[in-house]
Amino acid sequence: MNKSVSPPGTRKLYIETYGCQMNVSDSEVVVSIMQENGIGSTPDIDKADIILVNTCSIRENAEQRIWGRLDVFRQIKKKRPEVLVGIIGCMAERLKEKLLEKEKLIDIVTGPDSYRELPALIVEAEAGRQAINVLLSREETYADISPLRLDRNGVSAFVSIMRGCNNFCSYCVVPLTRGKERSRNPGSILGETDELAEKGYREVTLLGQNVNSYRWKKENGPGTFGFAELLAEIAVKHPEMRLRFATSHPKDLSNELLHTIAGHSNICKHIHLPVQSGSSRILKLMNRKYTREQYLERVSAIREIIPGCSVSTDIIAGFCSETDHDHLQTLSLMKEAEYDFAYMFKYSERPDTPAAKKLNDDVPEEVKSKRLTEIIELQGRLSARSKEADPGKTFEVLVEGTSKKSAGELSGRTSQNKVVVFPGRGYKPGDYLNVKITRFTPATLIGVPVKSTDL
Ligand code: 5AD
Ligand code: SF4
Repeated sequence: MNKSVSPPGTRKLYIETYGCQMNVSDSEVVVSIMQENGIGSTPDIDKADIILVNTCSIRENAEQRIWGRLDVFRQIKKKRPEVLVGIIGCMAERLKEKLLEKEKLIDIVTGPDSYRELPALIVEAEAGRQAINVLLSREETYADISPLRLDRNGVSAFVSIMRGCNNFCSYCVVPLTRGKERSRNPGSILGETDELAEKGYREVTLLGQNVNSYRWKKENGPGTFGFAELLAEIAVKHPEMRLRFATSHPKDLSNELLHTIAGHSNICKHIHLPVQSGSSRILKLMNRKYTREQYLERVSAIREIIPGCSVSTDIIAGFCSETDHDHLQTLSLMKEAEYDFAYMFKYSERPDTPAAKKLNDDVPEEVKSKRLTEIIELQGRLSARSKEADPGKTFEVLVEGTSKKSAGELSGRTSQNKVVVFPGRGYKPGDYLNVKITRFTPATLIGVPVKSTDL
């Protein structure tokens, strides 16, 4: 049975993305691969011939949300049985059997390293056969594929510089879903940033699970080309472009990198440094490879080498065997680190991870919730304190778009990654300007543009 309704060349893809920035970047690679094969995209699900969901497995509720979405696709398929539905990304890798056996509505299942196979898998699915490829690769970095940007603001873009992860934090499913760590050829990264600069992009975020371990063997001589060198090279080549990066593992955050950030005005003064817990005992169980003291030493190094740098983090509440004492240590570390921002989660056991195999998920749900609430409340106070010091200061802001809340106002971010809203007459997305902060709300700084002579 041939299921395709639209003739080849006129088929349209609708893609929905969940999870991290890396997944957003992957969806752009997928759209590009499809385009190369004559499949255009549409933002309208009702006009799509192919629906792909780029999924995330990081926490149980991320997966739950996607199972919920599948009900919607089921309805669409009832009305239009010829539509193909594919699950791609981290859940595909983790749940291939369950997806194919239990979810008869799914035609295609593709893991994060098999996106080049999608066009062939679509042909299979059109012939009425379920099509699957979740093989992980040691080499695939999609280096030669120029991603089709889905962000549409034309100002900021993601560039993936490495894939996979070798850290094996005991709670984390990523090494299982995305495989071994591999860096992308620096030539192709530079080519992509050149292309973005030519198109007028003003901000690039370099992505990897642990960008600090980026490494490429030098082609003309001994030694390796590391992340600090890559960052410096792009910063010098494109002085008009802001550079950001995520994520840094505290064990690999070197002073060399901090000096590189300090030495280039277009490398943003913001470091996302996930701590996960403030207790050295829990950090050991998490296999994070640093202690509380070593982590705080890195935060002091950031403050010393890059004055005015903001620091954000990820925190997990209620990991296996976490006591009240461990939890209090997390709260005290948060105060010492004075985070500007944090992503905070309840521990959620992921099947087949080292923690699931060896540790007991023994912190009761209500205790996890109570601890998470305390962490969120404390971070609320720290985030407010981080903004309290800003009124009266002037920051260079890159305009990203119109403010969501107040019409006629523009919104952008400071180098420290704080959102600023200001009256925007005469400015447009992609412009840099100086904004003097007048006040702040819990999420935003409010200010007025100043001419450089007013500084
Ligand atoms: N449970 C809760 N949070 C998790 N994270 C990763 N795995 C889990 C898990 N099993 C969080 C970590 C990580 C962020 C991306 O997600 O804080 O840094
Ligand atoms: Fe990203 Fe991790 Fe979710 Fe995969 S599981 S999409 S790597 S956050």
